[in-house]
Amino acid sequence: MKNKEKIYLERFNRHYDELRWLYMELYDNDGMFAELCENMRCFYEERNRDLRKSDKEREKNPDWYKSNDMLGMMFYIDNFAGTMKGVEAKLDYIEACNVNYIHLMPFLDTVEGRSDGGYAVADFRKVQKKLGTMEDLEDLTAACHQKNINVCMDFVMNHTSEDHEWAKRARQGEGEYMSRYFFYDNEAIPAQYERTVPQVFPTTAPGNFTWLPEVGHFVMTTFYPYQWDLNYRNPRVFNEMMYNFLYLANRGIDIIRIDAVPYIWKELGTQSRNLPQVHTIVRMMRMIGEIVCPGILLLGEVVMEPEKVAPYFGTIEKPECHMLYNVTTMATTWHTVATRDVRLLKRQLDIVNSLPKEYVFLNYLRCHDDIGWGLDYGTLMTEGIGEVSHKKYLNDYFRGYCGSSNSRGELYNEDPVTGDARFCGTTASMCGVERAVYEKNEAMLASAIQMDVMLHAYMFMQSGIPVLYSGDEIGQLNDYSYKEDPNKAADSRYIHRGAMHWELVKNIADQETMEGRLFGRLKELEEIRKKENVFVTDADTWTIETWEPSVLCICRCKDSDKLIGLFNFSEYNKTAWINETDGEYEDLISGRRMRASGVNIPAYGFYYLKRVKEMI
Ligand code: GLC
Repeated sequence: MKNKEKIYLERFNRHYDELRWLYMELYDNDGMFAELCENMRCFYEERNRDLRKSDKEREKNPDWYKSNDMLGMMFYIDNFAGTMKGVEAKLDYIEACNVNYIHLMPFLDTVEGRSDGGYAVADFRKVQKKLGTMEDLEDLTAACHQKNINVCMDFVMNHTSEDHEWAKRARQGEGEYMSRYFFYDNEAIPAQYERTVPQVFPTTAPGNFTWLPEVGHFVMTTFYPYQWDLNYRNPRVFNEMMYNFLYLANRGIDIIRIDAVPYIWKELGTQSRNLPQVHTIVRMMRMIGEIVCPGILLLGEVVMEPEKVAPYFGTIEKPECHMLYNVTTMATTWHTVATRDVRLLKRQLDIVNSLPKEYVFLNYLRCHDDIGWGLDYGTLMTEGIGEVSHKKYLNDYFRGYCGSSNSRGELYNEDPVTGDARFCGTTASMCGVERAVYEKNEAMLASAIQMDVMLHAYMFMQSGIPVLYSGDEIGQLNDYSYKEDPNKAADSRYIHRGAMHWELVKNIADQETMEGRLFGRLKELEEIRKKENVFVTDADTWTIETWEPSVLCICRCKDSDKLIGLFNFSEYNKTAWINETDGEYEDLISGRRMRASGVNIPAYGFYYLKRVKEMI
């Protein structure tokens, strides 16, 4: 038997019993299971030599992605560099940003104007024409691998675009294709679903169903009306989507971001979120990946409260996703900016830090989506802070309506019924850079940059892998031009998805410019992170009480290394009343030797205090 075959069989046999068990539990269909197995083998055969080699290496070192040099950056290809080829030409800049993992936002075929930022996929095997071709993607992933850069892409598995081949045929009344979606010829069942299923886009796309007059049916559309939910009760849907997943993995993708994963199983009388069958499907996906392409990682997009997120890691014996977004921490960070009170954030970090160290979170200050105010309102309530009024406060604050706020941004999906709204804006605009630049206020600018840097320094200290949104490294501001594009005007998320200003990148080495000041200071932090072993994802990480409501303290330890991070979330100088008497410390930014007790921190300042001498 050839070695290649032996490797495959070993992987296949390792997972066969469990995979078959779960498949049968869901579908009870031998024929379809056999077909799945046959196709998995074909995709393995098709996988190129370089990828198979990297699979083998990663299998030997399954923790390869947990190192301290991992730093991500996400961007839309057209906004960043026009095309796939354009991105390839910008890899040097990506390296200069110390980034070794890029998330290419949705680039598969979609219909302009009905694309939801590319999250309505019309063909899973075709790249949007304006961005390039599948060959360009393969060239790009190969070029990235040459430079040790990992590539992440979205796998939008909850729905297809109404322009997908299946949807077109379903619309023509072909039963085989209608059964791949949720079709109903009257409103009885849709009405039952509406009773228990919440809305994702209450303003821009209210309701969970869309009426299709030409077929006389309702179709389930949890997101936009042109995004038709796939019916995973149909094994044909599961199998075909797994083939799409493997096809994309074979183009050289390292990280598959499973989009909107909690939504993929629907059940009457429930919220149709996070149902047990979702976990069965993700677990099967993990095993299929480990059999065919074990070098890839699954990143779950679970924008839910913490107790719903962690289960997507699965268990140590039966893992599901390799990585998940640290979404509650992100939202709580901005709550802390607005309140100058770190207590809720400390509590939230304590929850994350108490989880097994095998779990890897992706940390970020903002992404391409809005910031939903999913905070721990139970705890806030004990302080007399109610959910509705607090959300209103946060939305007012970040629009710059409060005296102490210099933030700029816009609301997203304001729900006229509940009064609820989410928020959109770039990191720099939310920190006050936009206002300061506009008003030519140098003091305000210095403070805004300081806050921006402090937030990144704090984000880097969190347990997990940090991800930047491209443009944030040079302080890109909100882009209001989306309002002039009829395809985007209704969706305020485009305010923080603006095109990269390459003319400003020229300033990155110039300390006289805002871009240069920010870029230089972030670079310094990135380099510290790369150098210091305490930043590996499985370091011990915990918070320390500072007895100062505006100052957060995070501590990390790995082997004998110890680092204390202090972060002042207020515009006033503060003192952190910590008392770490176990040694002498050095601030890694200024190089100053100091004691880690009673530390004075300037407005929006921070320290990275490394223990340099242990007390015996
Ligand atoms: C995810 C994406 C979001 C998109 C939605 C529907 O939440 O992040 O941008 O609108 O899925 O696919």
